[in-house]
Amino acid sequence: MNQVQKKRSVQDKGSYAIEAHGLVKTYGSNRAVDGVDLKVGTGMIYGVLGPNGAGKTTVIRMLATLLRPDAGSARIFGHDVVKEPQIVRQLIGVTGQYASVDESLSATENLIIFSRLLGLGRAESRNKAEELLEEFGLTEAAKRPLKNFSGGMRRRLDLAASLIAQPPLIFLDEPTTGLDPRTRNQMWDTIRRLVNTGSTVLLTTQYLEEADQLADRIAVIDTGKVVAEGTVDELKASVGNSSLHLKVLNPKDMGNARLIVERVLQVRSNVSAESAKIMAPMGDVDRVTDLLVALREAGISLLEMSVQKPTLDEVFLTLTGDGVKEEAGYASGSAKNKEGVLA
Ligand SMILES: Nc1ncnc2c1ncn2[C@@H]1O[C@H](COP(=O)(O)OP(=O)(O)OP(=O)(O)O)[C@@H](O)[C@H]1O
Ligand SMILES: [Mg+2]
Repeated sequence: MNQVQKKRSVQDKGSYAIEAHGLVKTYGSNRAVDGVDLKVGTGMIYGVLGPNGAGKTTVIRMLATLLRPDAGSARIFGHDVVKEPQIVRQLIGVTGQYASVDESLSATENLIIFSRLLGLGRAESRNKAEELLEEFGLTEAAKRPLKNFSGGMRRRLDLAASLIAQPPLIFLDEPTTGLDPRTRNQMWDTIRRLVNTGSTVLLTTQYLEEADQLADRIAVIDTGKVVAEGTVDELKASVGNSSLHLKVLNPKDMGNARLIVERVLQVRSNVSAESAKIMAPMGDVDRVTDLLVALREAGISLLEMSVQKPTLDEVFLTLTGDGVKEEAGYASGSAKNKEGVLA
């Protein structure tokens, strides 16, 4: 059976690529995953979004048979991850799983070896390697040994290796963390292409913009629980149809301006720390006039004001609470990679 036939035949078995009920994983007294339900239809990009330590990677590891759940169950294309792990493993790909690339070999050699191991012929392996190196912008570096690769280049090679077989379901755990913007855009195109050619993708991301751009549906996870689920538009609508964005001219007026916003609009506001912008949901757009009058009476000058559709940042702040997450890099899509290095 070739890959395409394999994909079709597994997808006929059930309408869901992933179906999880009540997944739990406990580490000591820490319920890292605390009863997660997920339903991911075939042929879509599903985004899992959450702050550091929310439990995203732990969920993926359970779905990918790398970690046994303490409670609950999960099926991949209808196959139970605990009872049928061998079948499940044939249907999935996980980035990071080929960490054992050979340092002394070149990128081309590594990819050819992976292809051969997966049963591709000699010529086919060479073509596949060239194709992937081209796609991931590694052609220039292809002949150099891996020990001279930068972190970003390694990440790209790692993803390239995991895509040789193009399995029906692909888990991408923060696929673009640490990549420069140009490579990130290439990666987005690759992910879209994977779905257009029949795969289902579940990806976790630190970048709200990435989820907004790529995901058909999103689950927001916080402290081991799914706190919201839906399409991007549904999630945005859940925090109100319009939202106020406001910047004050003088930073010392921030606190006071925020109090006035909350008093006049009768809502809670959020502040994006980095850009010093006050954001608040708006039920009634007419209130803007009252707000402007109140701000002028308080002697507060504005730098910028707009009323717009909520951003995914606001959804995220509203759902997972204010403040703390901004330090983790959620303000205005300014997430940094965990190592704090640029590729
Ligand atoms: N092997 C382990 N032993 C003990 N605790 C763990 C282990 N793996 C994860 N945890 C804990 O489980 C919780 C969830 O971790 P997890 O890695 O799933 O979060 P995450 O959402 O992927 O976070 P990040 O965005 O930082 O990747 C955290 O509190 C973490 O410290
Ligand atoms: Mg993680």
